Amino acid sequence: MLKFTVKDKRCTRCGLCAADCPADIIKQEGKALPAIQPDQKAECLQCQHCLAICPVAAISILGKNPDDSFPLSVKSFPKLTQMIRLVRGRRSIRKYKDENVDPALIKTLLATLANVPTGCNQRELTFTLIDDKAVMQSFREKTLEALAAGAKANRIPEQFAFIKEAAPAYAERKVDIIFRGAPHALIVSAPPDAPCPGEDVALAVAYFELLAQCAGLGTVWWGMLKMVLETLPELKPLIGLPADQVYYAMLFGHPAIRFRRTVQRDGAAIVKKVSF
Ligand SMILES: Cc1cc2nc3c(=O)[nH]c(=O)nc-3n(C[C@H](O)[C@H](O)[C@H](O)COP(=O)(O)O)c2cc1C
Repeated sequence: MLKFTVKDKRCTRCGLCAADCPADIIKQEGKALPAIQPDQKAECLQCQHCLAICPVAAISILGKNPDDSFPLSVKSFPKLTQMIRLVRGRRSIRKYKDENVDPALIKTLLATLANVPTGCNQRELTFTLIDDKAVMQSFREKTLEALAAGAKANRIPEQFAFIKEAAPAYAERKVDIIFRGAPHALIVSAPPDAPCPGEDVALAVAYFELLAQCAGLGTVWWGMLKMVLETLPELKPLIGLPADQVYYAMLFGHPAIRFRRTVQRDGAAIVKKVSF
């Protein structure tokens, strides 16, 4: 049900909705209201561009009221200088305070994250959350136990040999190689038959990192979880992750450290120009 409606009194027939529609299914001619032909409704990407582009908030789709959207002007976004500082200044945090993050903040971050782009606007992401440090501690202990057993049974492949160290390092020195002492984790997953599952997942995690760091939280990409779960897939059900899902994860929490300046990596990018 697209529920595409246009407020006659507001609509100026400017045609912007029709011109921007990526599926090219909105038609607006002369003094007629913009409309979607019934036989083309299935082609709608549900991207809501029509609702977003209308200068007079005349269009509703999917039952959304355009007046409930955040209004946008050219001044609405952070300045480029602010974004440059964010991208240069966000850091992997590997020391966390032993406290939970306010659930209301996590809720706001995840609601925002539901707006990240996905291939063909499929929006098939699942956000699995460990939002309680006690739950995280249980998962940490079960994982380390399984890793110790896995190491004994020679189940850790050579390329991940260093994760064998995780259980003894935690038991003997409280060094937390895998979980980095974080109280929380976000695991983003997508079905393997989504149009772009790997890209969708990585994008959502990257956006989460930037949002969370703007909120004063620390984050670190959690590739180690992938190493552990691909080595010991029997751990996936512990966090409710179906075996076939494409996924990536991020640890987060209140940082126990603070970086004072950006790093300097400008030379790291290879820039190539295409010319004919
Ligand atoms: C895909 C990916 C996976 C990562 N996995 C881990 C991880 O499991 N544990 C960890 O401590 N850091 C992890 N990192 C963090 C990188 O080591 C880190 O980004 C890099 O050292 C640069 O530091 P910076 O993020 O502070 O710029 C990962 C980063 C990426 C992009």
